Amino acid sequence: MNRTGITEFVKLITAPSGPKGIEAVPSIADMRLLAKRRLPTMIFDFVDGGAGDENTLRANVDDLRRVTLNARTLVDVRGQDTSATFAGGTFPLPIVFGPAGLVRVVGKEGELAAVRSAGRHGIPYTISTSSSWSIEEIAEVATGPLWFQLYLWRSRELIQDLVARARRAGCTALVLTVDVPLNANRIRDLRNGMSIPPRVTLRNAYEAVRHPRWLLDMLDGPPIGFRNFQGIAEGNSAMSHSEFINKELSNLAANWEDLQWLRREWDGPLYIKGVTTRQDAARAISAGVDGIIVSNHGGRQLDGLPSSTRAFPAVADEAAGRVELFLDGGIRTGVDVAKALALGASAVTVARPWVYGVGAAGERGVDRVVAILEQEFRQTLALLGVGSAREIDTSFAHVPPEWLTEEPAAL
Ligand SMILES: Cc1cc2nc3c(=O)[nH]c(=O)nc-3n(C[C@H](O)[C@H](O)[C@H](O)COP(=O)(O)O)c2cc1C
Repeated sequence: MNRTGITEFVKLITAPSGPKGIEAVPSIADMRLLAKRRLPTMIFDFVDGGAGDENTLRANVDDLRRVTLNARTLVDVRGQDTSATFAGGTFPLPIVFGPAGLVRVVGKEGELAAVRSAGRHGIPYTISTSSSWSIEEIAEVATGPLWFQLYLWRSRELIQDLVARARRAGCTALVLTVDVPLNANRIRDLRNGMSIPPRVTLRNAYEAVRHPRWLLDMLDGPPIGFRNFQGIAEGNSAMSHSEFINKELSNLAANWEDLQWLRREWDGPLYIKGVTTRQDAARAISAGVDGIIVSNHGGRQLDGLPSSTRAFPAVADEAAGRVELFLDGGIRTGVDVAKALALGASAVTVARPWVYGVGAAGERGVDRVVAILEQEFRQTLALLGVGSAREIDTSFAHVPPEWLTEEPAAL
């Protein structure tokens, strides 16, 4: 090799090889793997896992793959408009960060990292009732739209108090989760001895020391617990909070009258989360909801429910355009977002993707998750042959024919 050849060769191998670090994570699937590497098994499984045998969890991802898209070619797609209108506003993407509680077990900042990132991208962020920072602490760092998720606790005074706090903190929509009359068994958590707050025991000590950054995160900051109930729950330890919730708040008697009551308490957008059947969709609409989040809690509650994608067409048929619809569960790519719109959703809600981001690299991890979904969605619009997300309608989706005529059978 002569001198020029050597110089060229050196240039070639020393040239910047593209983005480094978190910027190089190419997909949500890779972000999940990075979170897996950076977190103790017990914590990763708490996020990644589902109830029972995890059939519903798997179905959420698998059934989205069974939806295929009808693309149009030779269309001017220069518009590149990814925006969407829902909840009385227009947002840069048809994506909402769904509620996830206790995210501080995943990283020091937990929900704060996610709400900052969501705000920067104009993505609505849903504060969970079970968040590890309080409504007020989250609202303080928020710069974008906030929604609030609640349950029909036994005490109406407590619900009124939470709703009033959410309103004061600037939350513009309420999400009522209806698929948790009690907590389902999450086998991975039971197997791993997962507790709130996470405890380092002889069994998991090796895992904890193998992840020193995570361990330091856990020791830094206030004790991990349900901070929305501080001062209400007796005592100050996180355990007493979770015992308080299990004993005093969970409500096996919650019913449709409670929803009607809540409708009278809140005049902004009210979304019901956890509906998977035509019958429940009809009841929710007559109770006056503004929208339905078709969801099986990410496969974390009743194992055996159909995937959200499989349940969606019957709910959409019942709703017949009367309320907004959201698809929740299994969204991992920009193509998935387009599929949800093609099924008739106004937007999607995602949870694990942003929690993986927190676990992989805190706020920068969440930024990367949004960047991946945004880039993939923009690309999908062009490949689909549309200049704007608003052009996507049901003619773009092809689903197995029986999905359109039948209620989904149980798994
Ligand atoms: C770690 C974690 C915590 C969650 N906490 C809540 C919660 O507090 N309230 C709620 O309504 N849903 C909660 N969910 C369910 C999500 O809002 C959502 O329904 C589900 O995860 C969607 O599926 P995906 O994770 O595949 O996007 C949680 C999910 C995860 C992964």
